[in-house]
Amino acid sequence: MTSHTPPPFALHAPDLSGNTSRREQLLAWMRSQGGGIAVIPTAPERARNRDNHYSFRHDSDFFYLTGFTEPHAWLVLIAGDQDQSILFCESKNAELELWNGVRWGPEAAAEHFGFERALDIGCLDETLPELMLGQPRLFTTLSRPAGPELLPRLQTWVTQATQSSRGTRATPHHWLDLSEVLCEMRLIKDAGEQRTMRAAAKISAQGHVRAMQTAQPGKHEFELEAELLYTFRKHGAQAVAYNSIVAAGANACILHHAAGNSIMRDGDLVLIDAGCELDGYASDITRTFPANGKFSGPQRALYEIVLAAQEAAAACTSPAYHWNAGHDAAVSVLTQGLLDVGLLKGTLEQALDTAAYKPFYMHRTGHWLGMDVHDVGSYRMPPAANEDRPWRMLESGMVLTIEPGLYVRPDENTPEEFWGIGIRIEDDAIVTDQGCALITRDVPVAIDEIEALMRG
Ligand code: GLY
Ligand code: MN
Ligand code: MN
Repeated sequence: MTSHTPPPFALHAPDLSGNTSRREQLLAWMRSQGGGIAVIPTAPERARNRDNHYSFRHDSDFFYLTGFTEPHAWLVLIAGDQDQSILFCESKNAELELWNGVRWGPEAAAEHFGFERALDIGCLDETLPELMLGQPRLFTTLSRPAGPELLPRLQTWVTQATQSSRGTRATPHHWLDLSEVLCEMRLIKDAGEQRTMRAAAKISAQGHVRAMQTAQPGKHEFELEAELLYTFRKHGAQAVAYNSIVAAGANACILHHAAGNSIMRDGDLVLIDAGCELDGYASDITRTFPANGKFSGPQRALYEIVLAAQEAAAACTSPAYHWNAGHDAAVSVLTQGLLDVGLLKGTLEQALDTAAYKPFYMHRTGHWLGMDVHDVGSYRMPPAANEDRPWRMLESGMVLTIEPGLYVRPDENTPEEFWGIGIRIEDDAIVTDQGCALITRDVPVAIDEIEALMRG
């Protein structure tokens, strides 16, 4: 085989070590179901306005199996007498590459990404019905299609294959969903994925440090957002993992408040929930700090409760515990704290029985984290994620966030000194054999460390 030099473009080459073995693993699973053909496209390009597109983001399942980040690409896997993995992608085209950027092209892509074959995307409609002949089963991401065109196109190809077979060859009469098996595979991050996630976490932490260092009363939320975005891109992250939340003062009580025009006032807390995406993997950090660099008494009191809740949840983040143990531990600490400061009345037992914390803590304590910020994977034991199934036990290699918070909206029944305080503390954790590694702690979390950084 001739050796191809990869195109000299600045595509941040992802770690490809896992992609081939993931395809092999999926092919083995397909064979365990009787074999057949799998068809998985990447995401469609999406128009923003007129002839202008959002910057392209590949589909996570497709990327997981290929490492390939160009648009207009499809993966076909055949689990038959001989396994095959085939990529359809755009061909080299000097004129279009001059306008839109350099492409791999099928030949170089096959070699670099380890496919048995790669074909021009223009052959897709003609080739798929042929590839389906002799295949009784069709596998795809039925419940998580990458785009609206997937199912209609599959139907067309199956129909064409069935017509051309004239009853002499098998064609896909059984459609099976790949979503759940891919969820299970994606839930445990391999060493390469963990490396990327640690790198993403470090960049995001630096962004938060810079935002804290530059914050001061009189600045707008969007100015801190600019510091985050600058840091993310400066260190090579391709995108934000989700729209950045920068919330000054009472805006922090709006859970997904987008960074806007509000000004941080002296005495306000600022809540920043922001993370970059690096090589397809998300990070997700929240810090809350005083605009003027010094926590007030009531801010300090609530902050210490949230931090203690996070510590309690982190202590339950290990293979000895199930998914919900961290949330239960955080809720218990938050509830006791709300009783201690007078935001709730009664006993801990009563308050927990009635979920009295909910007006102050209305979200859960975490979520899976991976290629998607709210990553795939059942929180209950497989096979089916329904409420009768027990919570899933944590396993080494799972990655999750730990993000308790407290939010006090102005209300005549609550002490006024707490009005408008919204606090969330969020770190990313990799479950290890013994416990967990908090990979986002390059940004300080303790009150004295935050104040020292801001005094700087
Ligand atoms: N940034 C969204 C979340 O923390 O879940
Ligand atoms: Mn989160
Ligand atoms: Mn977050």
